[in-house]
Amino acid sequence: MSSVPTVRPPRTPAEWAAYYHLRYAVLRQPWQQPPGSERVPADDEPGTIHALLLANEATETPVALAVGMLQPTGDRQGQVRFMAVAPEAAGTGLGRVVVAYLEAQARAAGITEIVLHSREAAVRFYEKLGYAVVEPSHLLFGEIQHFLMRKQL
Ligand SMILES: CC(C)(COP(=O)(O)OP(=O)(O)OC[C@H]1O[C@@H](n2cnc3c(N)ncnc32)[C@H](O)[C@@H]1OP(=O)(O)O)[C@@H](O)C(=O)NCCC(=O)NCCS
Repeated sequence: MSSVPTVRPPRTPAEWAAYYHLRYAVLRQPWQQPPGSERVPADDEPGTIHALLLANEATETPVALAVGMLQPTGDRQGQVRFMAVAPEAAGTGLGRVVVAYLEAQARAAGITEIVLHSREAAVRFYEKLGYAVVEPSHLLFGEIQHFLMRKQL
């Protein structure tokens, strides 16, 4: 029986670097966005929840396989942002595990509703996890259509 991989916040500077590196590689680099564009001020706010799933827990050079974050947005609501799974690990259930971690942490923080802006290609993924499309939202980098989605916890 395979065990559920560990998801937790980054702890060391090397883990934080691995965390942001995967975000950049999956969500920014393919659209020629500059290094640093993968970070937002909310990353450093105290209520923000960061989720990191490492390839190997016992290593000095950590490699991230999956990441995600949840930003409290007020009125018992949170927003899932920057979900990214390494291409070689996609489709193996890691994204589901990261979202489950963020939802559990959100519940523990008293959050009762999660919203997110999903890329069109990821809408089906979120639907499988119980999220429903509310409406089309923004167009990122002039080409990636997003959809506002919502789930009650
Ligand atoms: C979208 C993403 C986060 C999904 O993570 P993942 O680890 O590949 O997904 P999982 O393996 O946990 O899949 C969970 C379920 O969703 C399905 N699924 C995952 N990605 C899907 C997709 N793009 N389209 C349709 N179904 C998808 C899986 O088949 C699985 O279904 P099952 O339970 O019936 O087997 C990941 O593929 C990714 O990082 N993609 C590129 C970046 C991106 O689009 N991020 C989201 C920005 S909003």
